[in-house]
Amino acid sequence: MSLISVKEEKCVSCGLCGETCPMGLISFDDSRYPQEREGAEGTCVSCGHCVSVCPNGALALAKYDESEFKAVNESLVLKTEHVEQLIKSRRSIRKFKQTKIEKRDFEKLFDIARYAPTGGNSQLVNWIAVNSRDLVKKIGDAAVEHFKNLIVEKHPVTQRYPFEKMIAYYEEGHDFMFRGAPALIITCAPAEYGLGAVDSTIALSYLDLAAASLNIGCCWAGFFMIAASGSEQIRKMLNIPDHFVFTGCLMAGYSDEKYMTIPPRNRAKVTWMD
Ligand SMILES: Cc1cc2nc3c(=O)[nH]c(=O)nc-3n(C[C@H](O)[C@H](O)[C@H](O)COP(=O)(O)O)c2cc1C
Repeated sequence: MSLISVKEEKCVSCGLCGETCPMGLISFDDSRYPQEREGAEGTCVSCGHCVSVCPNGALALAKYDESEFKAVNESLVLKTEHVEQLIKSRRSIRKFKQTKIEKRDFEKLFDIARYAPTGGNSQLVNWIAVNSRDLVKKIGDAAVEHFKNLIVEKHPVTQRYPFEKMIAYYEEGHDFMFRGAPALIITCAPAEYGLGAVDSTIALSYLDLAAASLNIGCCWAGFFMIAASGSEQIRKMLNIPDHFVFTGCLMAGYSDEKYMTIPPRNRAKVTWMD
């Protein structure tokens, strides 16, 4: 079966579909209409760019129904100052209301974050939504137990952070791991796919930015990420399948803090090479 079909009455042979295909699978060599190159079927990454770039709706991909391509709402295009404000005013949130995150809010965030770019449009990021403070606490406890093992093993990472002090602090009731968050947003990806950590980091960052619009605050759980990447017990608690790797975690909850100003950050270190 062909990958693409062309509505010839709509096609103006502008060539945009061929230019945009990341794999160079569309040619106009033998026809004034786009044609897929030989062997295209196993190479197409199904990104849909050829269809989306066509100004006349002349192209269809067999894999997708036409109705799956959504119109871009031109009236909602953001100005740079809006995007700048969104990005610069995002903060790591460490004070959370103890209410559960509404499932529809979670679903909205996953629905946005699934549009983050992925290597070869692979879309292999899997999400785990932990939406129970009790469970978050148990997972935090397991991470602290793992830190204790790392100290016994004299793992090199224990030279980097004052793990003994941190554990004592945790056991006094200070949740440095998850800051009392009622939820965790965790990613995992198939181990054999080499870009799972990159794709997950991008997707989690998209989600983090989108979350503020629902008053959901997030914070990267780096200490937990150290523990989770090496703990079989945490893998089991999270039901991460055997052939998957843990790739990232944000603590999350409705925000119980508000920042009045944007704190300073270093100037961008740029080497200009024009
Ligand atoms: C990879 C990574 C790991 C982090 N781990 C933690 C963490 O374990 N606990 C925490 O409170 N903050 C953590 N943070 C948040 C940083 O401390 C925070 O991004 C930084 O201080 C800047 O603040 P801002 O995000 O509000 O701009 C982490 C951030 C990143 C990017």
